[in-house]
Amino acid sequence: MSDLKSQINPDKVPQHIAIIMDGNGRWAKQKGMPRVLGHRSGVKSVREVTEAAAQIGVKYLTLYAFSTENWNRPPAEVMALMSLLVETIKGEIRDLNKNGVRLTAIGDLEALPPSTLKTLREGIEKTKDNDRVTLVLALNYSAKWEILRATRHLAERVKAGELQPDEISEAMFEHELSTHGIPDPELLIRTSGEARLSNFLLWQVAYAELYFTPIFWPDFGRDELFKAILSYQNRERRFGMISEQLT
Ligand code: IPE
Ligand code: IPE
Ligand code: MG
Repeated sequence: MSDLKSQINPDKVPQHIAIIMDGNGRWAKQKGMPRVLGHRSGVKSVREVTEAAAQIGVKYLTLYAFSTENWNRPPAEVMALMSLLVETIKGEIRDLNKNGVRLTAIGDLEALPPSTLKTLREGIEKTKDNDRVTLVLALNYSAKWEILRATRHLAERVKAGELQPDEISEAMFEHELSTHGIPDPELLIRTSGEARLSNFLLWQVAYAELYFTPIFWPDFGRDELFKAILSYQNRERRFGMISEQLT
């Protein structure tokens, strides 16, 4: 178990890993604790996974931290999540800088509470020169929202006569997504046993390898990440071709 890292092929490490961090609430409930303590414990996993990803050379790590649908949770939980976010970003900046982590975010950020947005912007600004790994937080994120937004932007350009509809390419569409400039994730992980995407990166994961684990997010650490990467490395990515064409 301890040598999972040494089993990883350094030449086939995914450049970008995206994670749906799920199961904080159930983890807490199982222990007879309030859900919020599950979220608090989840921060430790974020720290551990970010460091492990950086160590093996992952360049982008995108973490689904809050979906647009999560506003429908009880107000006290939403408030607790927003405060935890502020607290965590403030508390982690030093370590992010120490570990060469550049913080960035995707989602409808303008609609976040002002204090959350302010701290987020500070975190992004203070870590902008780091280049070991980019940590992308998906906050108030919805894949449908960003696809619609991209469509509207392109439609406006067509209306203004700058663009013909048949000139719209994949690259142009990607440029309008909040992930522009970031390569698509090769590996998408979801914890907690749920096997769904919950409105996460629908366009970008079109060809990602999907990895589902029953482990709840607060129990997901370095070794769990390495297991997911080993699973990824044992798959054959055919992109529509046949096996014989790949060698
Ligand atoms: C994931 O854990 C964290 C967020 C969605 C913010 P959950 O809070 O969804 O935990 P479960 O799925 O209820 O166990
Ligand atoms: C998805 O988890 C969103 C995040 C991890 C932030 P949810 O727990 O909100 O997803 P559903 O509601 O079970 O699909
Ligand atoms: Mg959940």
